[in-house]
Amino acid sequence: MMYTQQVMDHFTNPRNVGEIPDADGIGEVGNAKCGDIMKMYIKVDNDVITDVKFKTYGCGSAIATSSIATEMIKGHTIKEALELSNQAVVEALGGLPAHKIHCSVLAEQSIKAAISDYYQKNGIDPEPIVGKIPTCEDGHCH
Ligand code: FES
Repeated sequence: MMYTQQVMDHFTNPRNVGEIPDADGIGEVGNAKCGDIMKMYIKVDNDVITDVKFKTYGCGSAIATSSIATEMIKGHTIKEALELSNQAVVEALGGLPAHKIHCSVLAEQSIKAAISDYYQKNGIDPEPIVGKIPTCEDGHCH
């Protein structure tokens, strides 16, 4: 079988789908090759991500990885969220086919992009903390 049960579960029943109108940070990243785009919204209170929602215009693996990634950061600190790697997301899903690993990168990057946006909105330079995330704003996605 190509996809694990966890992937199918998160693809057919994704968690935390939607947007947060008064989000503290919004990140949008994409993959220029496949054209898929992921948008991540976070609410932050006292360095803790209290709420997170996402919208993914993309493949099933992108939807599954973003869904499980939201579950993995909700209620966690920003520091913990920044440590979430795409490998950890893939592991939590029980694996992805090799040609679908790049989809999980969007999940990691969209979280980092949302945190970058949060820092920027609070007058903090995100680059030393988060690093440089190629976002759609940079024209990376199109
Ligand atoms: Fe584009 Fe999966 S094929 S993110």
